[in-house]
Amino acid sequence: MKTTIDKLFKETTLSRDEFLYLLNNMDGDSLTYLRDKANERRVQEYGKAVYTRGLIEFTNHCIQNCVYCGIRYDNKNADRYRLSLEEILDCCKLGYKLGYRTFVLQGGEDPYYSDERIVDLVKSIKKTFPECALTLSLGEKNFSSLKQYYEAGADRYLLRHETASPTIYNKYHPNMCLQSRKKCLWDLKKIGFQVGAGFLVGLPGQSNEDYVEDLLFLKKLQPEMVGIGPFIAHENTPLEGASNGSITQVVTLLAIVRLMLPKVLLPATTALGSIDPTGREQGIKFGANVVMPNLSPTSVREKYALYDGKICVGDEAAECRQCIEGKVRNIGYSLDMSRGDHKNWRRL
Ligand code: SAM
Ligand code: FES
Repeated sequence: MKTTIDKLFKETTLSRDEFLYLLNNMDGDSLTYLRDKANERRVQEYGKAVYTRGLIEFTNHCIQNCVYCGIRYDNKNADRYRLSLEEILDCCKLGYKLGYRTFVLQGGEDPYYSDERIVDLVKSIKKTFPECALTLSLGEKNFSSLKQYYEAGADRYLLRHETASPTIYNKYHPNMCLQSRKKCLWDLKKIGFQVGAGFLVGLPGQSNEDYVEDLLFLKKLQPEMVGIGPFIAHENTPLEGASNGSITQVVTLLAIVRLMLPKVLLPATTALGSIDPTGREQGIKFGANVVMPNLSPTSVREKYALYDGKICVGDEAAECRQCIEGKVRNIGYSLDMSRGDHKNWRRL
């Protein structure tokens, strides 16, 4: 095992069989070794800084029906909301005062936010906060829409591929297609965005073979950011009662991605903190270097319920910032509130 981990550390890639060997044979000692190598690599690349993004969940309307997702179209129990331009700007203003220099606008696929509205939103935020980075996470869009958002000033785009296994993808994404999701990621790269791909861990039926497909796809795409989080069941979805993804499996994959893409921006996700109170700290120890505290108004927090047991739903933005700062400091790292761009990225 150590030889394979050393090879990944040195060469930043492995064959399909070697990745599978790593995932199938990870025991306690090997996991500690993997963690230490991943941490060594992240310290080499980014020191002990943990970049901080302010997350604004601006709409929970969605026309898609991802089977695992709590805000899917068919969940008629979801209490739907949209934030206005003014409300979104207020979240940014509060975030700016708290020190944030990156804002992430995330929502369901909501046709109310036409290209024109998104472009207005991006221009207003960039005009008010010219030194801040803006990340969008709005689901799949066509090339021309994405180009308009980039030209309006958006810097980054998060679109997890969710799973690179066509069978698993088709099972959980009715009326969607893995090829078009992948095409969207390639379009984003072509346009010049810092691109975030990523996948869920622990969906019923997902296997180590499927995670190897995820790793090989990421190696090929070379995204600037990778979001990896555990699947967590939501009571008002067809996956109610299913087992959640395991923290060990998530941190193993985080560490492998750190070694495979040494400069990647890798969040310790809220979902990881939701399956285990020390989840985000563990993620950081295994190579993650980004956290995304919530800046959404507390009045809508509970409504953006992707899964059951989501943490921080009742906390004010200032409390979230303080809480995460304490957690990061306790394990010997420090929050970095700068834009935190990927080292190789320059706006085209
Ligand atoms: N609509 C955008 C998209 O499709 O990328 C962004 C919003 S979507 C809710 C953000 C992410 O939430 C998805 O990429 C998915 O991986 C994650 N997610 C949704 N349901 C989840 C669940 N039950 N457990 C864990 N993560 C979940
Ligand atoms: Fe659309 Fe989850 S199904 S955001």
